[in-house]
Amino acid sequence: MAGPSDPYYVTTPIYYVNDSPHIGHAYTTLACDVLARFMRLDGRRVKFLTGTDEHGQKVEKSARAAGKDPQSFTDEVSQNFRALAQVMDFSNDDFIRTTEERHLRACQAIWRRLVERDQIYLGSYSGWYSVGDEAFHAESELTRTPDGRLLAPSGKEVEWVEEPSYFFRLSAWQDRLLAYYEANPDFLAPESRRNEVVSFVRGGLKDLSVSRTTFRWGIPVPDDPEHIMYVWLDALTNYITAVGFPDVDSPEYRAFWPADLHMVGKDILRFHAVYWPAFLMAANIPLPKRIFAHGWLLNRGEKMSKSLGNAIRPADLVQRYGLDQVRYYLLREVPFGADGYISHETMVARINSDLANDLGNLGQRVLSMIHRNCDAAIPTPGTLTAEDRALLEQAAALPAQLRADYEMQAFHRALEATWEVVAAANRYVDEQAPWVLRKSDPARMATVLYVLAETIRWIAVLSQPVMPKAMAALLDQLGVPAEARDIAALDERLAAGTPIPKPSGVFPRFVEEEAAAD
Ligand code: MSP
Repeated sequence: MAGPSDPYYVTTPIYYVNDSPHIGHAYTTLACDVLARFMRLDGRRVKFLTGTDEHGQKVEKSARAAGKDPQSFTDEVSQNFRALAQVMDFSNDDFIRTTEERHLRACQAIWRRLVERDQIYLGSYSGWYSVGDEAFHAESELTRTPDGRLLAPSGKEVEWVEEPSYFFRLSAWQDRLLAYYEANPDFLAPESRRNEVVSFVRGGLKDLSVSRTTFRWGIPVPDDPEHIMYVWLDALTNYITAVGFPDVDSPEYRAFWPADLHMVGKDILRFHAVYWPAFLMAANIPLPKRIFAHGWLLNRGEKMSKSLGNAIRPADLVQRYGLDQVRYYLLREVPFGADGYISHETMVARINSDLANDLGNLGQRVLSMIHRNCDAAIPTPGTLTAEDRALLEQAAALPAQLRADYEMQAFHRALEATWEVVAAANRYVDEQAPWVLRKSDPARMATVLYVLAETIRWIAVLSQPVMPKAMAALLDQLGVPAEARDIAALDERLAAGTPIPKPSGVFPRFVEEEAAAD
């Protein structure tokens, strides 16, 4: 397992700019944001990359439909994805656009490496291509609609393509890919997706067409600019562009490559788990350590997309429910990896029970009692009882548990474990009844409130990755200084006598009438 000072490099897919950002895109980036924030909290040096995929026929078509040239179109729409980072409070360290100069350089360099290593040859392609997926499909994969149109497995239309093309010798990598999956069981996750990839590769790989000549919007093939590089080879390369490739001696590349994690949706796993590792092996570049394919967020049973007209805008959700509430809900409600439904009802249930009742009330009750009964300062504890120690020990077990969960991208488990401590703290308040102790045994009351404040501090520090703003507010109210909010600082107990401000609730209840009024 990685140590605290190890670098951590996590990437999101780069998003096609023909779509405007919806909650599905936000979901992927949110997961990466939480990992990045957790690793930083744990003292690791983090690079968190996201960006936009701007080349290819699909984007070219959208630009044309918008009556714009592709460059000004992509300049404009990639801003929407930058803006998403503001809306969702994403902490990415870099934002890559595939139309940048650094990316052109990296793509041409990887192409040259592949040519030098005899991995690419000139031929001609004839077959089916889906612009929607930017993918080639075998005839056997297609289905015919009642009105005679042919569709790719994704439901996107295909068209017949016949043109000169460079090919990558993908077929030569089948056995080495299988051997790699076998030797590195954590490389692909979750397990069920890994099995799908393995059986796909076992089924046989054909050489892959990696250039097109019938459109211009992309990266020219070095020394043969009639050809434009296949948009997936271009797009996947972004992960190494961002760490300085082809300058493999640069400090960034040395620190961060191979990446710790490529997070992707299940729809694009094949590109990441088959093509990308094959390109990298063929170019003699180390492989990323792990690829995790999460499920889809479904709206009324369908994957969200602009074309289906069922996309939920992140800004609308945030405005309605609150930012940290949305961040919490998305990672808590759906076990990460599986498909999941999101709905107003389950959102409200989570907000009102987990956040407002369980954590919010706990904080508010404890802080108000301290403010009122302990001269608005963290009280001085006396000797700890077995019950006090049990609660504190349960909180102290969280960092190891969360490290393990986040290492496996098990967000829901990390949150579940944290909320077990929240529940234990709530039971402890009820059992110890500090409001009774106020009269009968003020010294014991001070100890109980101290133990609770301390437990809330652990919960708040460790929940910052998911709910940065709300947890910052809670830590402010506990009087925890800004420089003492990382995992290393947890071992240092709250200083008795630290003044605390008058508390105010961090998680308001969601009141249905207000929602109905708008
Ligand atoms: N441009 C490619 C990726 C290239 S990566 C080298 C692409 N872009 S995309 O914008 O169409 O989708 C990117 C990702 O958005 C998906 O893989 C998935 O992670 C996420 N999602 C899009 N819709 C989603 C849902 N409805 N639910 C969950 N995630 C979704 O593919």
